[in-house]
Amino acid sequence: MGMRRRAGAPAAAGSSFARDRALARNRILVGDCLDELRRLPDRSVDLVFADPPYNLQLSSELLRPNNTRVDGVDDAWDKFSSFEEYDRFTRGWLAECRRVLKPDGALWLIGSYHNVFRLGTALQDLGFWILNDVVWRKVNPMPNFRGRRFTNAHETLIWAAPDQKSRYTFNYEGLKSGNEDVQMRSDWLFPICSGPERLKDEGGRKAHPTQKPEALLHRILLATTNPGDTVLDPFFGTGTTGAVAKKLGRNWIGIERDTDYAKAAEERIAKVKPLSGSALETPPSKRAEPRVPFGTIVELGMLRAGSALFDERRSVRAEVKADGTLAVPGSRGSIHRLGAVVQGKSACNGWTFWHYEQGGKLHSIDELRERAKVKLGLTAERPATTLIAAE
Ligand SMILES: C[S@@+](CC[C@H](N)C(=O)[O-])C[C@H]1O[C@@H](n2cnc3c(N)ncnc32)[C@H](O)[C@@H]1O
Repeated sequence: MGMRRRAGAPAAAGSSFARDRALARNRILVGDCLDELRRLPDRSVDLVFADPPYNLQLSSELLRPNNTRVDGVDDAWDKFSSFEEYDRFTRGWLAECRRVLKPDGALWLIGSYHNVFRLGTALQDLGFWILNDVVWRKVNPMPNFRGRRFTNAHETLIWAAPDQKSRYTFNYEGLKSGNEDVQMRSDWLFPICSGPERLKDEGGRKAHPTQKPEALLHRILLATTNPGDTVLDPFFGTGTTGAVAKKLGRNWIGIERDTDYAKAAEERIAKVKPLSGSALETPPSKRAEPRVPFGTIVELGMLRAGSALFDERRSVRAEVKADGTLAVPGSRGSIHRLGAVVQGKSACNGWTFWHYEQGGKLHSIDELRERAKVKLGLTAERPATTLIAAE
């Protein structure tokens, strides 16, 4: 968190940059977030990213050992008279976000220990379904000057869907490929915003005390939106969300009460050049791909009825039946149900759990599914090296 800024003027609700409410995309709505959110239509945005006031409760000036002042967040926008007031405010804008989100959309919140637990409780009370919390570990956190607590080196993000049944976007394959084929984890390491990325005012001071790093938004938007989606940020600040959204071919809507911040954000976003469409292509998600049931693999003769499937360690052996089910002594069912049963779990992805044997080696049956899609004309032929013959 950064330096004290000169007091910016809160704007009259609904003033300034947004001229056409019906086409509010790619605009900053200058005003109070609750007023502005209430004007947005139901079920209209794909993602909300919210970086709300932290409610830091700073009671006195904090000094470094050399007596220089620490630039904490002591701006009026971060001050609330009590936890109750903060909770009322939080529940008001979160309920509006849930209303404007599409049913299959999602929301990200970011906060520190001062507010994130209150945000999480409010989310669950309002019916949101938490998908993950993510720890943003800061490479270069501010030290703990008094030496009386641990260095506060992270912020917490919460990713939630508006409902347990939401079919939210998660670009799993793209993330994994970009992470050298390792699943992306929930602990992220990024530096705080500094260098040329940090906006400065005419006096060379930080334009905003809590400008977030673009890298953080880059990961969030790539992971949980698609090009052309609309991302809403009700606490826009310097417009980090809008700048990254524009670069990544997403639409954005920003709400910010402070005219100085809104102006800085507008100027910043105007300079951003969007990436080309081809640079933004991501691998299709497995869920969006054409479906091939396991029974079809048997019908196509790619696995013979009576042959055996194993888990990766060969500790379980199941028999393939002619109807596309699997059986172990005492139990029979789909590849998914039987995979769950033998592990004593409630669910299992049978495609990745079960393996067939060929040439003394085990291969995932998921490879047969890919091959079946080619046989059925559902996807284009893949390079031969990625196909393993089952016959
Ligand atoms: C934590 S900062 C967001 C910083 C932003 N993520 C960035 O990267 O620049 C919170 C912002 O919310 C704004 N804000 C606070 N209360 C607001 C309200 N009721 N309506 C609209 N904006 C508000 C503040 O002016 C501040 O710029």
